[in-house]
Amino acid sequence: MLAIIGGTGLTKLPGLSITHRQVIRTPYGEPSGPLTFGDLDGHPVVFLARHGHGHTIPPHLVNYRANIWALHAQKVSHVVSVATVGGIHAALSPGRMALPDQIIDYTHGRETTFADYGDKPVSHLDFTWPYCADMRQRCITALEKAGERFMNGGIYASVQGPRLETKAEINRLATDGADMVGMTGMPEAYLAREIGLCYAAVAVSVNWAAGRGDSATAISAEVIEATLNDVMGRLRGVLKNLACMSYGEDAPAGNGGTCSV
Ligand code: HPA
Repeated sequence: MLAIIGGTGLTKLPGLSITHRQVIRTPYGEPSGPLTFGDLDGHPVVFLARHGHGHTIPPHLVNYRANIWALHAQKVSHVVSVATVGGIHAALSPGRMALPDQIIDYTHGRETTFADYGDKPVSHLDFTWPYCADMRQRCITALEKAGERFMNGGIYASVQGPRLETKAEINRLATDGADMVGMTGMPEAYLAREIGLCYAAVAVSVNWAAGRGDSATAISAEVIEATLNDVMGRLRGVLKNLACMSYGEDAPAGNGGTCSV
């Protein structure tokens, strides 16, 4: 089954007809909220609002381990994360989407692994390509079918937040090669890898990063809000295209009637 993790601006999934909600207890504590099960156009998905239903959990306090563990425990196989970002690359003006293929992790102090080791030998998991190729390909298909012009690839800089960056910090990220900056990409992507979920992120630029474009002197909350409103309908189309794909024998693709992907 497909899981959708919604970030800022996506605390509810528009168009989702809800069948039930489930509170999941995990060995790592509470997820951001109950998992919401339902269907998009007849195609089953499970939805989790990363920052909680009322958007009350800041990026550095999200219980990423509990969230990913809860999805895994519900037989989810694939995860798409919707991640709002600031655009660093010239192509990522507000409203544009991207499918990053690399990550640089600048976060600190977050729980980054399920492997508590104990008396088990330490293992080092490959993370050369942090996103699952199968899920990325599905996202490419879904974005193309929705008629989106998007950046295919790019480096996602995962920063600590919750504050936005200084201009100098963005210049440094750009020097490092980053194309976009967000606060929640890590350790989420790595935990998904560790537990065996096929995970990719659809990044949505909601503002120019600090010091760039119309954020030259300040990042405007109004710009972010307006962009989010503008982008939501398009995003829903992309997510519907993803939902109608088949995610394995245990989870047939719903009624299949309206899906031509
Ligand atoms: N910086 C970090 N995270 C973000 C931004 C930003 O400019 N916009 C949306 N998420």
